[in-house]
Amino acid sequence: MIKNLYIKTYGCQMNVYDSGRIKDLLKPLNYQLTDDPSQADLSILNTCHIREKAEQKVYSDLGRLRQHQTTRRQQGGEMLIAVGGCVAQAEGDEILRQAPYVSMVFGPQTYHRLPEMIAQVARQQDSKKGKAGRGIVDTDFPIESKFDSLPASQSTSTSAFLSIQEGCDKFCTFCVVPYTRGAEYSRPAKDILIEAKRLVELGSKEITLLGQNVNAYHGQAPNVNQEWGLGRLLLELASIEGLQRLRYTTSHPRDMDQDLIDAHGQIPQLMPFLHLPVQTGSDTLLKAMNRKHAAKDYLGIIDRLRKARPDIAFSSDFIVGFPGETQKDHQDTLELVRQVNFAQAYSFKYSIRPGTPAGSMDQQVPEAIKTERLYELQDLLNEQQWAFNRTKVGTVQPVLFERVGKIPGQILGKTPYMQSVPLVAPQRLVGSLVDILVKEGYANSLMGVIIDSNEPVASAA
Ligand code: SAH
Ligand code: SF4
Ligand code: F3S
Repeated sequence: MIKNLYIKTYGCQMNVYDSGRIKDLLKPLNYQLTDDPSQADLSILNTCHIREKAEQKVYSDLGRLRQHQTTRRQQGGEMLIAVGGCVAQAEGDEILRQAPYVSMVFGPQTYHRLPEMIAQVARQQDSKKGKAGRGIVDTDFPIESKFDSLPASQSTSTSAFLSIQEGCDKFCTFCVVPYTRGAEYSRPAKDILIEAKRLVELGSKEITLLGQNVNAYHGQAPNVNQEWGLGRLLLELASIEGLQRLRYTTSHPRDMDQDLIDAHGQIPQLMPFLHLPVQTGSDTLLKAMNRKHAAKDYLGIIDRLRKARPDIAFSSDFIVGFPGETQKDHQDTLELVRQVNFAQAYSFKYSIRPGTPAGSMDQQVPEAIKTERLYELQDLLNEQQWAFNRTKVGTVQPVLFERVGKIPGQILGKTPYMQSVPLVAPQRLVGSLVDILVKEGYANSLMGVIIDSNEPVASAA
């Protein structure tokens, strides 16, 4: 019997990847995805712990799921509720205390055990004649890698994610990731190549390699007793026929080694767009954050990348209002932004995270000042983004169309710079790279016209 699976994903791309793998994992158990939680036999929240807001959302969404669960029970059905991801890892048992109607709590490194957990819950229910027992919590950091237990990926998206590295040993003082994802781990290159080839066979034209510190990648090389860094791995991936675009995220400035910088000059498939978080332009704060580099080091890396690949553009992450941030520190951040000139960026108010060193630092910045600084920074970043988008007007951009849009007849694609291009065009172009003459550059997208539709058109899958 087919069962409905509802998954809601919060947070970063790694969670998006994990949710895809969870779907693949549960397929042999006859679960198929639904986007309607009221019809779900199993609902999973794949959660994010990075900022307080993300975490609060989980509890409000759990409340809503509970209502659906009650309705389904009244109708003689059942809905199991599971919480996975980084909040689950951080809170474990606490989730069951606050939401006893949850059956399973599992972390980012234990979701491969989900079929076992589901079977265990079913056994409990049988022995208690339908009444749910106490939920199961599995937030181990197992010795075995989940990747060895997962079935082959079934993703058929034009642009696919592929996790190659997990966890983090860097312990930036504001961040929960080292606690929620565990120690740094790199998958063997052979496994990554197999997965990448499979994704391309299933129709992916673009692969984004993922890791919390993706450029810290140091995986076992195929056949020889050596390790490969990310630069070497990218070279190998670029030789996969049919793979037209490569990207990687998220990188740490400290792991931007020469091999990787060279790869940007050598590999045409590697898109000239790099997300390289800097967090702040203040050396005092970079130190307090434990980022282990100075602002000038970051600027130096940007320069070297621009030399290797002159058309490269950058995006970044910023935190405003880190404990102790002065007006001068904030000005240093604005100055760094002016020097780099970003094509895109994410910026956040510092959010106190339990258990992190910065959470207990003195000199927490008042909320109103955080807000003011965030707006000032965002004004500058938005201005730069819009200006960058306008520089593409009059140029021809290869656009990879990934899906149909919300407006009937519209399809959505991305330029090499991740700029969104909506276009009214035949749906058969989804899955194709099409040359677009850019006519307008807006704040968040580009508008253009097709100048070349001779590209082989994607077969309808
Ligand atoms: N590994 C990446 C970042 C992963 S977390 C890196 O080192 O850059 C994604 C982003 O969330 C971070 O870059 C940071 O800008 C933001 N972030 C992390 N912890 C935060 C916190 N406590 N408050 C606000 N933003 C935070
Ligand atoms: Fe968090 Fe720092 Fe690790 Fe990035 S490098 S995941 S910010 S601890
Ligand atoms: Fe959030 Fe975990 Fe990713 S905390 S940002 S889902 S690694």
